[in-house]
Amino acid sequence: MNASQSHSDLTVLGLGAMGSALARAFLRAGHATTVWNRTAERAAPLAEAGAQIAPSVASAIEPSRLVVVCLLDYQSVEDVLRPVATALDGKTVVNVTSGTPRQAQRLADWAAENGIGYLDGGIMAVPSMIAGPGSEILFSGPRELFDRAEPALAALGPVTYVGADPGAAAARDLALLGAMYGMFGGLWWAQALARSHAVPDRELLPMAGDWLRAMLATADNDGGGANAEVESSVQMQAAGFAYLLEAGKDAGIEPGVLAPVGELLQRAVAEGHGTRDVSVIVDLLSEADPVAR
Ligand SMILES: NC(=O)c1ccc[n+]([C@@H]2O[C@H](COP(=O)([O-])OP(=O)(O)OC[C@H]3O[C@@H](n4cnc5c(N)ncnc54)[C@H](OP(=O)(O)O)[C@@H]3O)[C@@H](O)[C@H]2O)c1
Repeated sequence: MNASQSHSDLTVLGLGAMGSALARAFLRAGHATTVWNRTAERAAPLAEAGAQIAPSVASAIEPSRLVVVCLLDYQSVEDVLRPVATALDGKTVVNVTSGTPRQAQRLADWAAENGIGYLDGGIMAVPSMIAGPGSEILFSGPRELFDRAEPALAALGPVTYVGADPGAAAARDLALLGAMYGMFGGLWWAQALARSHAVPDRELLPMAGDWLRAMLATADNDGGGANAEVESSVQMQAAGFAYLLEAGKDAGIEPGVLAPVGELLQRAVAEGHGTRDVSVIVDLLSEADPVAR
């Protein structure tokens, strides 16, 4: 790093697909940005985009008060940050690496013990969506840290503060990803069934989007599964579900993620919830034996 560039608005550690997208967004927004990546060659395109390339983690964090970390997992975050704890004293680490609420809490505790400000983030986007429409990044940790970092973080697109609990962003991130994977599992089955009946994706997908959006409005039974108005009962849904599996079998399509959903509906009926709203299944899942989780 040369003397004329001894000050940086922020640092990005990790230049994988996502870290590179974040660094580019900061640069486009006019932030002086220092970057580091374990595999140095991966940093070259960022140098062309105007980033200052640091040869080590220590030299990367030295010029910035805000250090954005985007690595593969929490193990790599700990491997990278722990050796430079002293140098991070007084700075703010914004960790947008995906992980669990417990991992976020653990890193926040470590940061607090070392005088390091800590914000945890969950990125609800793929790299090409960063700083564009449809993306959102969730942040949790001390409100004052977020308020101070927000003007810089806003370069990444819409950012939302979700609470002081360090794990608050990860909890939402993982809940949304769970919803995505479950829905995608259903969608993959739907595409296979639709194709077997000559229904192309371009017809199915807009219909699926409208349908899912409309049905989501019926899913808000927060804490009220037992009292929700019963419009379509569990037993009705369990009976109707059998047609999906039958049609799939007729078309030679594996049931995939649908089979366990059918089993949950059957279980709810067997446990005496047949006349209740289907949201009772949220309660069934939440009652799982913690040891078996
Ligand atoms: N890509 C997405 O669509 C997306 C979306 C939302 C959230 N995220 C999250 O963003 C994070 C990064 O994802 P990505 O897509 O950028 O992954 P990626 O392209 O696989 O990059 C992983 C990064 O982690 C670094 N790394 C891995 N192990 C390391 C270690 N032990 N020490 C130092 N550096 C290490 C890699 O360095 P090298 O280059 O040296 O291997 C690379 O910079 C993940 O937590 C991911 O869940 C990604």
